This record gives sequence, C-alpha cells and structure tokens, in this order.
Amino acid sequence: MGRETIIAGNWKMYKTIDEAMEFVQALVPKVSGLEASVYLAVPFTAIRSAVGVSGDHIVIGAQNMHDVSEGAFTGEIAGRMLKEAGAHFVLLGHSERRQIFGEDSSLICKKLRRALEDGLRPVLCVGETFEQREAGQTEAVLQEQIKASLAGFEAHQLERLVLAYEPVWAIGTGRTATPEIAEEAHKICRSCVNELFGAELAEVLPILYGGSVKPANAQELMAQPDIDGVLVGGASLEVDSFAQIASAAPVTMS
Ligand code: PGA
Repeated sequence: MGRETIIAGNWKMYKTIDEAMEFVQALVPKVSGLEASVYLAVPFTAIRSAVGVSGDHIVIGAQNMHDVSEGAFTGEIAGRMLKEAGAHFVLLGHSERRQIFGEDSSLICKKLRRALEDGLRPVLCVGETFEQREAGQTEAVLQEQIKASLAGFEAHQLERLVLAYEPVWAIGTGRTATPEIAEEAHKICRSCVNELFGAELAEVLPILYGGSVKPANAQELMAQPDIDGVLVGGASLEVDSFAQIASAAPVTMS
C-alpha cells in the first residue's frame, strides 16, 4: 500500500492576512492537479482567510498550540480555536519551539493529545542538533524524542499522525541532508514507531523531511523509499519555489 505524500510549507512568522490570501490564490491553480496533499502552516491570524481561498486543494494548519483547551494563559492559543478558524493540522515540537521557547517532549506529548482531541492532525517534528550528530547520538536522540512525544498513546489513536524529521543543523542553513543521510534517519524513525506501535502504523505513517528543502533537491529526497514528503520553511514563502517542490512529488497513492 502506498503512503500518503505530503508537501507541507511552514511559514513561521511571515506573511500578513493579505499576503497569505494572495499567496494561496496564486498557488491553487499550480497545485490543483497534483495527487500529493499540499499543506500550509500559516500564522494564526491568517488561518481563516487562507482557508477561505484554499478550496479543496490546499490544507491549512497552524504552527503551535497550547496543551489545554482554555484558561488564563495570556498570549496562548487553544487547539479548538484553531479548529474553529478552519485549521486541519498543527505542527508540534518544531525545533524552533524546542530551542527558542524551551518546549520539551513531555509538553509536546500533552499538546499532541490535545490536538487529537480537538480534531487536528498533528505533525510531530523531531531532529538532532549538529553536536548530537557529531557525537554519534542521532539514533538515540530520535528514538528518545519519538518515545517521549508519543508516550501513553496506543497505535489506533495515532492513525492521523504525521512525523517530520528535521535535522536542526539543516534548518534555515542551506545545508540539506543528503538523500542517504535523510533516508537513514527516516528508517530509524520508522523502525522506532514499529517497535513502539507495531508494523501496521509504521507502514502507513507519512514521514516528511525538513531542512533547507529547495526545488533543486526535493525530487531526490522524495525518491527515497522512506521519505514521504517534505516540510519546507524558506522555500515555501515564494509561490513558484513552493509549487515547484510540490510538483516534484512522486505519485505514490494507490
Ligand atoms: P527551512 O526550514 O526549509 O527554511 O530550512 C524548515 C523548517 O523549519 O521547517
């Protein structure tokens, strides 16, 4: 059985409502014939407007959420608010959240549970730093992040999960992992999910690669057997480069 292919953009803290609408309107005709799913994680303020112009072709989501459904948490946002605004998915555990905002896997685990309860598809991001890779800890770090972020779940609860392998040293640096290095890490992630939850989930779980994905390298990355799509930061901010990356997706659905 083929796995779902997902081309996801992560806009981070870029684009106003008007810019987001203009982008989505320009992107729709460029991706409407594709078989791959096209996801865009936009700023909170742009979710509703982006959904309004995305039609059936682009899936709009958010980049973060709180782990409880409401409360006195100034400046935070709840999953059910995102859902109401029209978000279908949420990025969780992005390395910028882990490193700049101090999120750890146990918090990400709570957010993941809440996201599923709120009907949002979680895109769980994991990845090692340069120092960890140099020290030969990549496998252990990935396993630890996956295990701790998915603690307490059962396989049937994770049917909608998407995993994103994003080596921290490749994010925003122009230093993409080679297809071989990325594939090796994806295999580690998939076998970890297999060990924890069984082959049925591991075989269908989409695992995306993220970190300096560009039109020039997207195709060779997605040609790897365990790379089911990409999570794109910088190159998702321009319609043409993101559309080119989306067009590089292989047809894998059965
Ligand atoms: P990048 O970002 O494509 O700009 O490296 C990827 C990400 O942060 O998800």
